[in-house]
Amino acid sequence: MSERIGVALFGIGRIGMLHLMNMLASPRVVVRYVVERDLDKARDVVKKYHLTDHTTVLSVDDTSQVFADDRLQYITIWNEKMPMALQSLSSVTVEKRRKTI
Ligand SMILES: NC(=O)c1ccc[n+]([C@@H]2O[C@H](COP(=O)([O-])OP(=O)(O)OC[C@H]3O[C@@H](n4cnc5c(N)ncnc54)[C@H](O)[C@@H]3O)[C@@H](O)[C@H]2O)c1
Repeated sequence: MSERIGVALFGIGRIGMLHLMNMLASPRVVVRYVVERDLDKARDVVKKYHLTDHTTVLSVDDTSQVFADDRLQYITIWNEKMPMALQSLSSVTVEKRRKTI
């Protein structure tokens, strides 16, 4: 199998959860981070889906670890509050690290 695709998911509301379910269905994807304003909800989801071995829950004020992680190929953002500038920064930062998978 090819290298697994490392993902950070910002926001696990209605749409974020749909994306999480789709990602968990793929053996090629590993969700490395869930970033959420509601940390209790994020921790409950990570526990419910047995993700604790590979997935770190972070608060919205603690995202530098995400952007420094060279295991990530992809960041997906599903919340209405994330400033567009940060979305752009996220894409650019990860794009620089994108590997041929
Ligand atoms: N609901 C839809 O049918 C739909 C369809 C297409 C696109 N969208 C877009 O997707 C986005 C999310 O929609 P939703 O319906 O899932 O919303 P939602 O309110 O159900 O979920 C948003 C989640 O983001 C979290 N959050 C808020 N601020 C955050 C931050 N700064 N960092 C990380 N997490 C944060 C909230 O705690 C919540 O869990 C919106 O921008 C919406 O316009 C929604």
